Parts: sequence; structure tokens; C-alpha cells
Amino acid sequence: MKVTWGRAGGLPRERAPLLAVLLASDELSPKWLPAALLAAIRPPIAAKDFSGKELETALLYAGKQRVLLVGLGESKKLKPETLRRAAAAAARRARGLKLTSVALAAVTTTVAPFAAGRALGEGVVLGAYTFHGAKSDTPPKPVASATVHWSGRGGTSFAEGLRVGAVSAKAQCFARDLGNQPASVATPTWLASQAAKSLRGSGVRLRVLRKAELERKGFGGLLGVARGSHEPPVFMEFDWRPRSYKKTLCLVGKGLTFDTGGISLKPAANMEEMKFDMCGGAAVIGAFAAIASLRPKVRVVGLVPSTENMPGGSAIKPGDVLQSYGGITMEVINTDAEGRLILADALGRARELEPDFTVDLATLTGACVVALGHRASGLFCSHEELTRRLREAGDAAHERLWPLPLWDEYLDEMKSAVADVKNSGSRFGGAVTAAAFLKKFAGDLAWAHLDIAGTAWDTPRNELYDGGATGVGVRLLLRFIEGFE
Ligand code: BES
Ligand code: MN
Ligand code: ZN
Repeated sequence: MKVTWGRAGGLPRERAPLLAVLLASDELSPKWLPAALLAAIRPPIAAKDFSGKELETALLYAGKQRVLLVGLGESKKLKPETLRRAAAAAARRARGLKLTSVALAAVTTTVAPFAAGRALGEGVVLGAYTFHGAKSDTPPKPVASATVHWSGRGGTSFAEGLRVGAVSAKAQCFARDLGNQPASVATPTWLASQAAKSLRGSGVRLRVLRKAELERKGFGGLLGVARGSHEPPVFMEFDWRPRSYKKTLCLVGKGLTFDTGGISLKPAANMEEMKFDMCGGAAVIGAFAAIASLRPKVRVVGLVPSTENMPGGSAIKPGDVLQSYGGITMEVINTDAEGRLILADALGRARELEPDFTVDLATLTGACVVALGHRASGLFCSHEELTRRLREAGDAAHERLWPLPLWDEYLDEMKSAVADVKNSGSRFGGAVTAAAFLKKFAGDLAWAHLDIAGTAWDTPRNELYDGGATGVGVRLLLRFIEGFE
């Protein structure tokens, strides 16, 4: 979708087949609206059919032009998330009406122009998102263009926000696409080729380590998990290195393209959802797709170990011992606790790169979904500054994080008689013991683990999200990165 800024004064001439006007409940006939539009929206307001309540909508007609009123609630309380959802409602309605373009108009003084532009840019792109998949009917034409009018001060900041927002949402849609593909399409090799395609000609370098190289270098966790599958594993290494920078960030994503559980096989119910077990990896790949066009002034490296977890004849068995990249040995008690085995290698690799901050994203435990449900990702971090930065990024992106403990005592139950650590403990505190396991591999990195098992798919639907993969993490990571510029 092409998102453009409707320059000041352009609104009276706007001829898009659908014009969404975003109105606060206490500013229902604002001066910035052209007289003809003010006249058109008066009847539903006078009849109290539209009162500007948050995300309330009303569709009316001004001659040939459809006008969608979208409520923003009380202007003093307006938050970017409401703007994001309001813009998405407009795009969603355009999509429902089978229109290929949409225009929006808004002004607010509560949210600053850049933040407003970004929220609207994100919303309009996310609201228009669909995944047609393998349905054999021809997909409806997508909403291909959006013009967003802003008649307030700060037009150029607004336009810049709009651009950044559209880039970030497109990257999130890309991550959604990767997640929504079935595992027979989205294999590790395919993921790497999609990542490469999205970065072609950009300044982001991508190295893909394949099986032979992984064997030479000793990526024992990833290779171990991959043993049950016919699909070869890959380890992606991204590198964005601007001409000058002060800090290096490392993003790690679990790219498990299908998790059957392995020999510790999962029950059949809902197992199809395990195609989403690569959503941490998709978030990192998506973030780099955006980095390629945003070109931040901070170095960012990315690590995505990717494999299937299958119960084949060569699969690892409970009791087997694997040696991770970096040397720490792991006894496999449960082959379904595979995410931590592949992340162990990635964290070992991260340590070699000596980044200032490392963040991993992983659909790591069902226990995290039990603990936090679908509205927050688990945050495990013992570094104060990193915790603060991530939580602020999560709040700003509305991809919220909630802290859980990362105490060494949780490792007590992960002691092994034959290796440095075992990969599974008791039934209790599963999200926390998984994080404690990872901490052993993160060593003295300034590191945070985000468990996105509850937020990567099947979250409550709204104007921005209509089922399938959410693309969670992309917006959050981009805001986190922005904090270092
Ligand atoms: N990918 C799963 C975690 C998961 C399960 C995410 C359900 C979302 C929904 C992970 O690999 C896994 O299987 N974890 C196990 C760990 C256990 C065996 C220690 C779990 O959560 O049950
Ligand atoms: Mn598993
Ligand atoms: Zn898994």
C-alpha cells in the first residue's frame, strides 16, 4: 500500500471513494473541515447517531463520496493506539466495500504530529492486511493507496511519522505473512530465501549458515533438534552496520517452522498452530526488512536459528546430550522443550559478537500463555536499563510486556546428572524455568528474553488484527532500536 500525506489545504479537493474523518467527541464540527463536509456530517451528529465515542463509526454519503466518521473519544484522553485503530477501521471499511483507495482526515493536539502520523500510517496498513493463503477464488483487490490529511501544525513531522509508520506496518505484515504460511511452505530454507529477498539491494547483510557449516562450527542445539526432520536447518545472521554508530544491538528470534514436540510428541489437538512457532524469527526478519529502509544510526545484528522439530528415525531422544555452540552441554529430558536448545546456540553466537544489548523473542512456553494470556508478552530481564527501554518501547507500540522473575534459584531444578544443564524441570513455573535455562547461555550479556507464545497469534481481534499471525515484536523492536539513535 502506498501511503501519502495529504498536504495542508488538499482536503477540499479529496475525491477518494471513501473519506474517513476522525473526530473527537468534544470536537464534532471542527474548523479544519471544509464547509461541504461539515454540512454533510451535521445530520447524523444532530440526530445523535454519531457522538464521537472511541472507535464508533457511521457511514454517510456526500454526493458520490462516502464519508466514514470514526470516533476518537474525548480529545484530552486521546492515545496513539486509538488513532492506530481508527485508521485501521477506515482501511478495513474500504476493504469491505471493495475499494482500492481510501483517504483519512484528522487533527489532534493531544498526540504530537510525528506520533500521530506514525500511528495513522501503521493503522491504515495493518487494517488493510489480509492473508488469502491457498484459497482458490481470486483474492479481492487490495487497498492499494491511502492519503492521510492533517490540517494541523507540524505537517512535515506528521508526514515523516506517516512514512515511518507505514514502513513499520509493512514489515509487520511481512512477518504476518511468514507466520501464516503452512509449514510445508515456510521451511527453514524458504524463510531464509524470503529474508534474503526482502533485503536485496539494501545495506543489510544476510549470511545463511547451512548444515555443513553448522556441523563444522558446532551448533549442536540446532543440529540436534533438526535431526528428526528431512528439512535442513539454517542459521541466519543479519548485520546492519551504519557508517558511524555507538551501540550494537543483537536481536534473536526462534525460527521453529513446525513443532510436533519431536519424540515427546504433542497431542493432536491444535497442533496445526505450531506452524506459528517461528514467529519470533519472523519478528526479527520483519524488523530487518524495516531497518533496510529506515537505516537507523545504530548497529543491529540479528540471529535466527531455524528448523522443524519432528519425530523421525534419527530424531534426538530423551536422555540424549547435546553440546551447544559455546560448549555448554544440555541433557534433553523433553524433546518438546526444543526452542531453548536452538536459542542456546544463538545466545552462544551472540556472546562472540559482544553486543551492548541482546533481546530474544520466542514462542517458548505454553506456561507463559497460562500466566499472562494473550495481551502481554513475558519479559525476563535482570538489566535495569534494558528493562526500561523495552517496556517503554512495548507501551509505545502497544505490544506490551510484563515482567516475570529471572532468579538463579529457578535453575536448581534444571540440574542434570550427566550434562551441564537439563532442558526441562517440573510442571510448575514453566515460563520462568525456560528463561532461567536461557540465562545460563546468555552469560554476562545485557540480555532480555521475550516469551511471545501468547501474543504471536490468536490474540483478541480488533480493527488492527483479524486472525492468524499478529506480527508481534516488529513494532516493538523498531521503537526499541529508535531509542539508540
Ligand atoms: N512452541 C512450544 C511452546 C508453545 C506451546 C507456544 C503452546 C504456544 C502454545 C514449545 O516448544 C514447547 O513445546 N514448550 C513446552 C515446554 C515443556 C516441554 C517444558 C511447553 O510449553 O509445554
Ligand atoms: Mn516444543
Ligand atoms: Zn516450540
